[in-house]
Order: sequence, then C-alpha cells, then structure tokens
Amino acid sequence: MSTQGARRGVTVPDVRARKGGEPIVCLTAYTTPMARFLDPHVDLLLVGDSLGMVVYGMKTTLGVTLDMMIAHGAAVMRGVGHACVVVDLPFGSYKESPQVAYRAGARVMAETGCQAVKLEGGVEMAETIAFLVGRGIPVMGHIGLTPQSLHADGGYRAHGREETEAARLLEDARAVAQAGAFAVVVEGTVEPLAREITEAISIPTIGIGASAACDGQILVTDDLVGLFADFKPRFVKRYAELGVDVSKAAAAYAEDVRARRFPGPENLYTAKP
Ligand code: KIV
Repeated sequence: MSTQGARRGVTVPDVRARKGGEPIVCLTAYTTPMARFLDPHVDLLLVGDSLGMVVYGMKTTLGVTLDMMIAHGAAVMRGVGHACVVVDLPFGSYKESPQVAYRAGARVMAETGCQAVKLEGGVEMAETIAFLVGRGIPVMGHIGLTPQSLHADGGYRAHGREETEAARLLEDARAVAQAGAFAVVVEGTVEPLAREITEAISIPTIGIGASAACDGQILVTDDLVGLFADFKPRFVKRYAELGVDVSKAAAAYAEDVRARRFPGPENLYTAKP
C-alpha cells in the first residue's frame, strides 16, 4: 500500500478522542515559519480567517476570500509535521447551501492538504455540517461569538448572559455535535454556560474567552506574542512582546546604517542563523 500523503501526527479522530481528557492545545498560524515554531508545542493549528485583521490589516474578517485561506493554509501545511491543521471557511463561501459549502471545503482540503475545515454557526448550519462530514470533510464548529456575524450581532460582546440566548447556544452546541462535527470552538461565551455546554455534548469544546473547563483552548498567536497591536481582548495573556522587539531591532538597524556601521559582504551570508 502506498503511504504517499500519509503523515504521522495528530489526526482528527485523535482530537475527537480527547473529550474529557488532557486539554487540547490550539493556536492560530498563517505562515510557514510561524507554523514551524508552533508545531512541536500544539495539538492543533487553526488557519483562522482572523488573518484578515492580523495579517492584512482589515477591520473585520468579512473581506477574507477562499483564495486567501487556501494560500495561507498551504503555507502552514509546509511548516507542520505534528499538529492537526484546520482551515477556516471564510464569509460568503459556505452558508448558501450544503453543496456550495462542500465545493469550498473540498477546494480547501485538496489545495492545502489540511485535515479539516472550520465553519461558524449552530442549529442553522447542522445540515451543512452533516453534508460535509458524510462526504469526507471533517468539520470543526464555531459557536458563541462568531466574528463573521459581527454586524448582525451588534459588535463584539459576551454571549449567553440572558436565559434565552443561553438556551439557544446550548441548542447550537448540541446541533453541531449531533451533525458530526469533531470539535467545536466556543468563543466569547460566559463561563458557566461554556462549562455547561462542555458537560452537555460528546465532542471536545475549544474555548476562547469562554471557560477553563473547556476540553481545549485556542488563542490568536499574534495576540499571545504581542504582534497584533490594534486591540487586545481582555482574556488574552501575553507571553512575549515580539512587536516591541521588532521595533527595537529596526531602530538599532537604522542607527547602524546611518552610522555606516555595517558588516562587509564576507559576514553577510552564513549557512546558519
Ligand atoms: O479566525 C480565528 O482565528 C478563529 C479563532 C479565534 C477561533 O476563529
């Protein structure tokens, strides 16, 4: 049997099997070098449509296209040997019908080599999730704060404070799980509800601004390492200040250039960094 295309590393069933077990470590990645840095430390890398804001300076994720997701998905796949890679389906590429979603998902899977796609929505997306999963496209769900519905929701806010909204979110989680998603991101959802959802459904919940009780956690890597300075969600813990370091490096370089303090060509090209 040919093993071409086979790869050792975390699979979709591995992630699914972690329900109630060791917490699942997830981060976003958009490029090959960042994927290489993160891969040994995480179970799952998400090529999130947050790249529209983080990499391209857009105000929201709504302008991200399928071609952008495929280009970045393929780049991340070139840097990964261990983590399970999931690529977001962007706004406008999947809500029209299950068939449209299938075509978008199939392009992403075929052109990037990723393991799964993620899409936003609850009860209303259950039929689409079942359609994709039944045809070999593993799906990660995303409920609670769903950035692609930012305008319909009236902005970024915590979800599930009111009883009716909490009941709807629980229904969303159940519908996504029953439709066959292998995991679900629970974003911006009040703690007791995120905990209740985690206890109520049979697939892993991946929290972001939700609850430590979730089966795993995800953060936007650029938030974590201080590379995205437009705003910092309150739940984000900064582990590094790379933006500050880059700025300092550029300033030091500028000083050297202006002082004509610059290495000769014999020092410019070395085999190793
Ligand atoms: O687009 C993204 O990065 C996401 C995560 C924040 C979950 O959806």
